[in-house]
Amino acid sequence: MAIKHRIVVLASGRGSNFCAIADAIAQGHLLSAEIVGLISNKAKSPALAEAKSREIPTYLVESASYRKDGSFDRTQYEKELLTLLIKLRPDLILLAGYMLVLGKEIIKSFSQKIINIHPSLLPKFRGLHAQKQALDSGEQETGCTVHWVNDDLDGGETILQAKTPIFAGDTEESLSRRLLPIEHKTYIAALKIVLTHR
Ligand code: GRF
Repeated sequence: MAIKHRIVVLASGRGSNFCAIADAIAQGHLLSAEIVGLISNKAKSPALAEAKSREIPTYLVESASYRKDGSFDRTQYEKELLTLLIKLRPDLILLAGYMLVLGKEIIKSFSQKIINIHPSLLPKFRGLHAQKQALDSGEQETGCTVHWVNDDLDGGETILQAKTPIFAGDTEESLSRRLLPIEHKTYIAALKIVLTHR
């Protein structure tokens, strides 16, 4: 049997991108991939339950337990996360709604192995609330970008983008809702591209 690429997904929230990718793999659309773990930094992340229901191993590295008196011990948090990642031996790490900035040490340890999805047409609208940023700027269209992760936040090389128009009357919610299924398709298509070149 052909060797499978070991994929680890990091998610903080809902996990719809994770579900779409896991289901695409289960349906045989990404034959050379297997998800060997879903890591969340949030105990209440619905992504954890979604992974469990798909019999994908789950791991919680709780960022809240490194927060005290308003400060965040990022170094220790990243150390625990890096130790776990090394143990899981990923060929690819997928950020799917992971709401923390990944530390330099992890990025260096998994250089050219970390991928993210961002809900804008990068380089436009980096950072949080990208859909709202696009609306507020009066754009006629926006989209999503699947890209490699490097030290430059939302600045790594693009793998694939997809667009959607912005309609009069759109809100951050309506636009995000319309973009989400496009994100799912684009993440899967980007993975296909990456996996066929490995
Ligand atoms: C998506 O909009 C993604 O682009 C952004 O965070 C959101 C995650 O959604 N990075 P989900 O948790 O995958 O449903």
